[in-house]
Amino acid sequence: MSTANIESILQEKRLFPPAAEFSQNAHIKSAEDYQRLYDKAKANPEAFWAELAEQELDWFQKWDTVLDWQPPFAKWFVNGKINISHNCLDRHLTTANKNKAAIIWEGEPGDSRTITYAQLHREVSQFANALKQLGVKKGDTVGIYMPMIPEAAVAMLACARIGAPHSVVFGGFSAEALRDRLNDAKAKVVITADGGFRKDSIVALKPQVDKALENNAAPSVENVLVVQRTKQDIEMQSGRDYWWHDLQKDVSADCPAEPMDAEDVLFVLYTSGSTGKPKGVVHTTGGYNLYSHMTTKWIFDLQDTDVYWCTADVGWITGHSYIVYGPLSNGATTVMYEGAPRKSNPGCFWDVVEKYGVTVFYTAPTAIRAFIKMGDEHPKARDLSSLRLLGTVGEPINPEAWMWYHQVIGGEKCPIVDTWWQTETGGVMITPLPGAIPTKPGSATRPFPGILADIVDLDGNPVKDNEGGYLVVRHPWPGMMRTVYGDPDRFRRTYWEHIAPKDGKYLYFAGDGARKDEDGYFWVMGRVDDVLNISGHRLGTMEVESALVSHPAVAEAAVVGKPDEVKGEEIVAFVTLEGGNQGSEELNKELKKHVVSEIGAIARPGEIRFTDALPKTRSGKIMRRLLRNLAAGQEVSGDTSTLEDISVLDKLRTEA
Ligand code: PRX
Repeated sequence: MSTANIESILQEKRLFPPAAEFSQNAHIKSAEDYQRLYDKAKANPEAFWAELAEQELDWFQKWDTVLDWQPPFAKWFVNGKINISHNCLDRHLTTANKNKAAIIWEGEPGDSRTITYAQLHREVSQFANALKQLGVKKGDTVGIYMPMIPEAAVAMLACARIGAPHSVVFGGFSAEALRDRLNDAKAKVVITADGGFRKDSIVALKPQVDKALENNAAPSVENVLVVQRTKQDIEMQSGRDYWWHDLQKDVSADCPAEPMDAEDVLFVLYTSGSTGKPKGVVHTTGGYNLYSHMTTKWIFDLQDTDVYWCTADVGWITGHSYIVYGPLSNGATTVMYEGAPRKSNPGCFWDVVEKYGVTVFYTAPTAIRAFIKMGDEHPKARDLSSLRLLGTVGEPINPEAWMWYHQVIGGEKCPIVDTWWQTETGGVMITPLPGAIPTKPGSATRPFPGILADIVDLDGNPVKDNEGGYLVVRHPWPGMMRTVYGDPDRFRRTYWEHIAPKDGKYLYFAGDGARKDEDGYFWVMGRVDDVLNISGHRLGTMEVESALVSHPAVAEAAVVGKPDEVKGEEIVAFVTLEGGNQGSEELNKELKKHVVSEIGAIARPGEIRFTDALPKTRSGKIMRRLLRNLAAGQEVSGDTSTLEDISVLDKLRTEA
């Protein structure tokens, strides 16, 4: 976060209590109700979650033990049998929800579809049978590389239905990034589309899959299933590739949901860390079902008549938990939108709100800031009166953006839930419950009931109010990741040993700094590790550096984030070249293109600076702190005594 943002957040004192009408009708109606729930959960977390699991979900077989905690490995609802696709579909068919819209989908070119629960159940069951016919079995991993079309949700639910873990890869990732993930997850099948519409052009997906699989580079993949979306010409490899619509023909819609063990893997989703390649975050069935269900219900205060819209992409955890699983498990109507905010259509989000009467709207601060720039006239020209609750996720929201959201989009009547969480946590961890907790612009406020969050120093001791520290969680929760796919040691090291375990007590820490104020409100400051947050997307500095270094002209690269008004952070890369190469405008462009082709457009550096040398300590470690100062155009602050060659700094200053 920029220094200016931190300053304004530190001085933020405004308090916005929920309106009485909102609270009266909310699931959790008052601060006292919240506190009661919080205290109950804290006193006995297992009993708290077990009661909800029993009340809120269908189980084929009840568990024997609520929590088996062998730190840092947790098992929830041991020996329970459940299927999340049953909870998202079948159980609604015997209620009034049967013919309710499950998914309302709006394509970028303006085409649309509404799918009821009964229709979605049918499509999912058919596609699940199609997967089975191709030989996909319980336990086989399925890669999903799709645009934002209903088939993406159908594919996820069909995998869950037959017990095949899915691994969704964001459609904006490159062929290389896709290949790495398919290989790590050992995907047997990839489900994709010919392409998708994004920002007025066609994003080719199938050709990227072809490239990822070239020369048998992802040998586990046997088949590719392709949805026809954009209708451009693509190659279909006979015997390997099948059209989705051909596979759906003449397939039975009778496919009972497989009873899964609560701890069977539901999905593996890759995310960036500060070291190494992206890691496969493993989520399992029962605990994730419960956690995504409860957080959706209480945080978005879902009522029967709500039209709920989360603008994320299913390629990220937000899409998993809050477009697909959480809302459908609750029997809600979830809106899916293929498009993205773009200059050619600055009112696109507000058109969708008006067209479908969206009541609950969940988006990212970067989108809010982009809309602020596009001008108030666009939302003001639409009828947004259906909105009753707003949410944000992905990065700290600056109070100015919060206030704009509150006034211009929410008409000063909608509570805002600023939800802090991560791919690893499965669902929201710190957030206002909208009918209960008065909000402060820029604060994610209070932990969800059952989440024992705290702020500590490196020794695990709680810090004083308003003192910065590490944001940790003291007790396991059902939605927590279970391990890093194929690397339990990395799981232990990354999340549980950064802050030393004491007396066998492990603290979960995944990289954020925060402070707690005198009212117990949490203020998340951002990552304290080498993870960047570009438009709410997580990227490791090392991933971008490896991409740069893989170019033959580059000798060394160091990547830092620089504050950006809209994206939150922008990538600045400092690059030294292999002997004989000269920095030029052309090479600059080529390197940016190279990073895009290695990772994807989200990793395109905003700036590349060529330099003779990078500032390093005597032990050879790049001093990123200094580069961050330089990138932001600030004076270098803090200790420079460990710098090996102080003249490097002067050179970098003049080169800028
Ligand atoms: O730094 C925090 C930031 O996003 C990181 C998690 O990124 P990812 O796993 O991609 O998940 C994003 C969507 C859940 C966190 O470590 N972050 C997320 N939400 C917030 C946030 N920072 C501040 N406030 C938030 N509401």
